[in-house]
Amino acid sequence: MVETLTPTSSSSCWWRRWWVPVIHNHNHNHRRWISTITNFLSTHKTFLIALWFAFFFTLFYWQRDAATGGLLLFRRTFPSRSIPKLRPVAFNLTDFGAVGDGVTVNTAAFERAVRAISRLGKKGGGQLDVPPGYWLTAPFNLTSHMTLFLAEGAVILGINDEKYWPLMPPLPSYGYGREHPGPRYGSLIHGQNLKDVVITGHNGTINGQGQTWWTKYRQKLLNHTRGPLVQIMWSRDILISNITLRDSPFWTLHPYDCKNVTIRNLTILAPIFEAPNTDGIDPDSCEDMVIEDCYISVGDDGIAIKSGWDQYGIAYRRPSVNILIRNLVIRSMVSAGISIGSEMSGGVSNVTVENVLIWNSRRAVRIKTAPGRGGYVRNIIYRNLTFDNVRVGIVIKTDYNEHPDAAFDPKAFPILKDISYTSIHGEGVRVPVRIQGSEEIPVRNVTFWDMSVGITYKKKHIFQCAFVEGRVIGTVFPAPCENLDLYDEQGHLIKKSTSQNVSDIDYDF
Ligand SMILES: *[C@@H]1O[C@H](CO)[C@@H](O)[C@H](O)[C@H]1NC(C)=O
Ligand SMILES: *[C@@H]1O[C@H](CO)[C@@H](O)[C@H](O)[C@H]1NC(C)=O
Ligand SMILES: *[C@@H]1O[C@H](CO)[C@@H](O)[C@H](O)[C@H]1NC(C)=O
Ligand SMILES: *[C@@H]1O[C@H](CO)[C@@H](O)[C@H](O)[C@H]1NC(C)=O
Ligand SMILES: *[C@@H]1O[C@H](CO)[C@@H](O)[C@H](O)[C@H]1NC(C)=O
Ligand SMILES: *[C@@H]1O[C@H](CO)[C@@H](O)[C@H](O)[C@H]1NC(C)=O
Ligand SMILES: *[C@@H]1O[C@H](CO)[C@@H](O)[C@H](O)[C@H]1NC(C)=O
Ligand SMILES: *[C@@H]1O[C@H](CO)[C@@H](O)[C@H](O)[C@H]1NC(C)=O
Ligand SMILES: *[C@@H]1O[C@H](CO)[C@@H](O)[C@H](O)[C@H]1NC(C)=O
Ligand SMILES: *[C@@H]1O[C@H](CO)[C@@H](O)[C@H](O)[C@H]1NC(C)=O
Ligand SMILES: *[C@@H]1O[C@H](CO)[C@@H](O)[C@H](O)[C@H]1NC(C)=O
Repeated sequence: MVETLTPTSSSSCWWRRWWVPVIHNHNHNHRRWISTITNFLSTHKTFLIALWFAFFFTLFYWQRDAATGGLLLFRRTFPSRSIPKLRPVAFNLTDFGAVGDGVTVNTAAFERAVRAISRLGKKGGGQLDVPPGYWLTAPFNLTSHMTLFLAEGAVILGINDEKYWPLMPPLPSYGYGREHPGPRYGSLIHGQNLKDVVITGHNGTINGQGQTWWTKYRQKLLNHTRGPLVQIMWSRDILISNITLRDSPFWTLHPYDCKNVTIRNLTILAPIFEAPNTDGIDPDSCEDMVIEDCYISVGDDGIAIKSGWDQYGIAYRRPSVNILIRNLVIRSMVSAGISIGSEMSGGVSNVTVENVLIWNSRRAVRIKTAPGRGGYVRNIIYRNLTFDNVRVGIVIKTDYNEHPDAAFDPKAFPILKDISYTSIHGEGVRVPVRIQGSEEIPVRNVTFWDMSVGITYKKKHIFQCAFVEGRVIGTVFPAPCENLDLYDEQGHLIKKSTSQNVSDIDYDF
């Protein structure tokens, strides 16, 4: 396993420290403050140490005088954070007989708690507090008007014996379980046809214990598609925030055909190698969704926006639309930071991706599709992306030929158009751009504006294109492919391309 429970690799800590102040605090004075404090500390070290000792001795004697036994004050200095009451009624998971020893199976307790909350809908719903501990459970369902609150140190552990995982029918827009035909395993935490659901906490964890699943998958011992960690279907007004999701058996967080979903301030972790299909977040046929302030480091795509697979997705006809993704730090060593597709047959439009750092990754942002998908990807805006040590930066791929069955329509060509990349920076990139349209699936109206990416190899043809129409505005580094028109910063045409269809794709590089 590459990722450990308390990451100690200096690089991962470095990003985290950097990220917290910069993203959550847009106030630049903050930094000046820190440096002032740092200077003060280094010049007044001895004084501060003396002060520190004085403080402790005073505390110690005061404590002894007031004492009734035990260092009371120390306990008060580090209280366990009290859980806010976010609904009119709050329950404690232990009230339903749960035992947080990591061994007892608590499915019945979760189910009883959810049933109790389901009766409170008209009164503003209910909250289920999960206290510190290891709460082993099989999959269970949520209910409407519910808040699941994970205290600091609370870990919901998914049982890793598939006997406990109920099977569900395939998703209608996929036709198949995805990895196997027929039914699929449900998700550890599941919901259907819900309204007003909150999953939040003081950075408590939902842990899917995926290792067993990944091994069985590799050994081909599973007869059904693995289950996601959290899957909410046909629901609206969903908020998931302030928690950690880790080691999902399959995709981590999968909102399916939902409306008004907010995902904020999550940490999503899985080993960066050998954790197959552990995508971070998969918005799938969702409308009005925000994903912000998250740290994602997983074994597949960080985010993958989807909308169904080939003929099943075309028939289901539900696009992913109005999606805003911002202020993220993502690492994906085997796939991409942020993907659209490859299943996009219901269409994907009006997606904005901004202020995202993608580091130590194979690809940064990718759109992937294939003949047979149908649908469209249009009105996609990428703005202020930073790449640090990624192999391929911007990718559009139109031959991602992975199909549910032979009955797909090879003439169902997706439409790819109106895609812009603005303020793209970074370093350590091998191939900054690889836009591979085809005769059947040309990529139209692509715009590059303000791009400068430090490259690892000085080589020609690292800005690669085929069947792409669009423009470059102002200076772009490295030099763009011949397929694009050149404009100056004022928007005057400098040079019109005569070779939109020429292919300059070099996979060996
Ligand atoms: C829940 O119950 C447990 C065990 O009784 C207790 O330790 C914990 O403090 C309670 N949590 C809340 C939020 O009431
Ligand atoms: C959750 O609800 C769905 C839909 O009602 C149902 O098919 C599934 O069996 C339920 N899962 C569990 C674990 O109860
Ligand atoms: C993010 O979550 C952490 C852990 O729960 C919390 O300490 C922090 O204040 C949250 N940040 C924001 C911006 O909500
Ligand atoms: C939340 O917990 C995760 C996993 O333990 C940790 O990596 C992350 O830094 C924590 N987030 C905050 C804001 O404390
Ligand atoms: C898969 O199916 C085979 C053959 O029916 C069966 O022997 C095996 O136990 C099944 N495996 C699982 C994990 O259900
Ligand atoms: C969206 O959901 C949030 C809860 O997450 C709710 O407060 C808000 O009113 C909803 N917005 C709309 C337009 O329904
Ligand atoms: C996340 O946690 C922070 C700090 O406790 C709190 O201020 C914020 O309201 C929480 N955000 C959400 C969306 O729950
Ligand atoms: C596009 O999505 C954003 C949210 O990301 C939304 O505010 C905006 O209204 C949408 N635009 C259209 C034309 O629907
Ligand atoms: C660009 O994104 C980075 C995070 O990757 C952020 O720190 C910076 O403030 C953003 N710049 C602008 C102009 O929004
Ligand atoms: C090209 O795409 C941009 C957005 O990137 C859009 O504003 C513009 O209208 C599109 N042009 C045409 C001709 O559709
Ligand atoms: C380039 O390819 C597009 C899409 O296949 C086609 O419509 C167009 O006619 C081609 N242009 C040239 C000059 O061959």
